[in-house]
Amino acid sequence: MKVLVTGSAGFIGSALTMRLLARGDQVVGIDNHNDYYDPALKEARLARYAQHHGYSHLRIDLADRWAVQQCFAAHKPQRVVNLAAQAGVRYSIQNPLAYIDSNILGFANILEGCRHNGVEHLVYASSSSVYGANTAMPFSVHQNVDHPLSLYAASKKANELMAHSYSHLYGLPATGLRFFTVYGPWGRPDMALFKFAKAMLAGDPIQVFNHGEHRRDFTYIDDIVEGVIRVLDQAASKNLGWMGDKPDPGTSNVPWRVYNIGNNSPVKLLDFIAALERALGVKAKMELVPLQAGDVPDTYADIVDLVEQFAYKPSTTVEEGIGRFVSWYRDYFEV
Ligand SMILES: NC(=O)c1ccc[n+]([C@@H]2O[C@H](COP(=O)([O-])OP(=O)(O)OC[C@H]3O[C@@H](n4cnc5c(N)ncnc54)[C@H](O)[C@@H]3O)[C@@H](O)[C@H]2O)c1
Repeated sequence: MKVLVTGSAGFIGSALTMRLLARGDQVVGIDNHNDYYDPALKEARLARYAQHHGYSHLRIDLADRWAVQQCFAAHKPQRVVNLAAQAGVRYSIQNPLAYIDSNILGFANILEGCRHNGVEHLVYASSSSVYGANTAMPFSVHQNVDHPLSLYAASKKANELMAHSYSHLYGLPATGLRFFTVYGPWGRPDMALFKFAKAMLAGDPIQVFNHGEHRRDFTYIDDIVEGVIRVLDQAASKNLGWMGDKPDPGTSNVPWRVYNIGNNSPVKLLDFIAALERALGVKAKMELVPLQAGDVPDTYADIVDLVEQFAYKPSTTVEEGIGRFVSWYRDYFEV
């Protein structure tokens, strides 16, 4: 299999690329190495691919239409996993247009590439943030998600809609995966676990949003990657029972699907911090602050569809996952 992975220098993209290379797939990776967080970490993630054969890297921007077209024409990937995006909810308030460039324009270029090059399955990252103002828990793909609370969330919902139109018009099998707060080794420095570990080891205080009261369905990176691979290997199919007069939001009469990939076990932020304190052997100095603009209070994934269709359920507990993150962090930063 030849798989195009966008965002291959990113947290999830690099973990996925390692797994695909290990099973013998050829991977073409795209990443623009932007400095939203330290690009040295992106380089270090890429350096890991040298232990395998079959990786080629393109340092291009998804928003560069010509470069993306050239990539598809030259490499003819059979499958595509689109993970490159401007991530982060809070940053979408500071720099909204970055989300339009990478997540909307960039995604349109990916759809065009898939359409013109006979791609057999497009899998793309959506996000739990699409549930926005919804409060019915657990969050199900069969609920409507029409009330995003940030432009980041709106861009991910837009991706799901754009993909649907290409599945309808051109028969492109497309699966959107709503990831729930992913954490683990080689993670993102802008996310809570990384920021907390760094501050706690330096003896600095940590800012705890929503006074630590919110719950997140923290999902370990290897569980996310396993889910992506299972989904990637089975192209999206039509729901033959889908009815336009009672439209199910999670399926369609075209080969288009969305799934949640979450741990199905939400954890209170204060309990997550307590697990980190135990793993580091350091007590956190907490500065409790209110919920931030754009953030949702709680997330909790309904994963019935994932379990039924792919016989898969994430299973790593935060205790185990944080332990593995801390070992990696201490080793990588030599602290
Ligand atoms: N990590 C999470 O908790 C989480 C949760 C929900 C959804 N997601 C989504 O999963 C995907 C991967 O997230 P991640 O945590 O690995 O983030 P990441 O920032 O580590 O990875 C994204 C990569 O894409 C690259 N990139 C960004 N814009 C680009 C562009 N225009 N052209 C080319 N490359 C570009 C970045 O340089 C980065 O290496 C994203 O789409 C993100 O929105 C992540």
